[in-house]
Amino acid sequence: MTKRLEGMVALVTGAGRGIGLAIAERLARDGARIVLCNLDEDEARAAARELSVLQGGQQVPIAIGDLSDETVAKAAVNTAIEAHGRLDILVNNAGGGIILPFAEHTPQTIRTTIDRNLWTAIWCCYYTLPVMREQGFGRIINVGADSVRNGLWAHAAYNAAKGGVHGMTTGLAREFAMDGITVNTVAPCATNTPQMAEISARDPELANKFLSVIPMGRPAEMEEIAALVSYLASREAAFTTGQVISINGGSTML
Ligand SMILES: NC(=O)c1ccc[n+]([C@@H]2O[C@H](COP(=O)([O-])OP(=O)(O)OC[C@H]3O[C@@H](n4cnc5c(N)ncnc54)[C@H](O)[C@@H]3O)[C@@H](O)[C@H]2O)c1
Repeated sequence: MTKRLEGMVALVTGAGRGIGLAIAERLARDGARIVLCNLDEDEARAAARELSVLQGGQQVPIAIGDLSDETVAKAAVNTAIEAHGRLDILVNNAGGGIILPFAEHTPQTIRTTIDRNLWTAIWCCYYTLPVMREQGFGRIINVGADSVRNGLWAHAAYNAAKGGVHGMTTGLAREFAMDGITVNTVAPCATNTPQMAEISARDPELANKFLSVIPMGRPAEMEEIAALVSYLASREAAFTTGQVISINGGSTML
């Protein structure tokens, strides 16, 4: 049987660990050829080795660098084109919060939060969309955050960045609707990742508050996020665009 993403090329940002790696693994299992971009080179190389096994030993191209720098984003897109001649799926996963009460942020931690979560996604979209328009096909999936909808404790700066990602989703979806390109965002609640484990270790009370708003009483699993990304990346999701879809155990319900 043909796999769902057979013949498609996917660039997954921040795929060195956590949710990004889970997404890359799922897309690879579903038949896509993966290209990674990551800030940390060691993480990226370890992830590429692991993903290569899922791709029948095929090498996984890597771009290293900070995607909030537009030249790195451009190079990452070029890496995919040089390796495979096309780019069908862009997953803007690179990010991560500096989770602090707004009053405890410094100007630098606020800038870093916006750089890491919003500029990374903007530049990757900017350099990917002309390629997708030329192909007449593309799937962009951003990783946003459900905290934008429920205003979670200590998330104001992070929500400013992720809210920008949510906003870009609707605008790009409309602009590229006639080009065979869909643009959607998946918005997870607290997820069972190393990043969440760090928050739990540092401030268990805060981590428990994050869980207290989830009717199902548990964090999301990374694989649950990857499953939705895989669907949105597929050809059968052709009529779903401009959506911000929460994966949140019922934390917000509209
Ligand atoms: N963990 C959660 O509970 C949670 C909840 C909602 C949304 N999210 C979002 O999901 C995504 C993944 O989260 P995670 O918990 O797996 O994060 P993580 O910190 O474990 O991993 C993020 C990865 O992105 C890479 N990265 C970070 N900044 C980068 C940059 N500027 N350029 C290139 N690569 C960069 C890092 O090297 C790392 O490999 C993030 O966008 C995060 O904001 C996470």
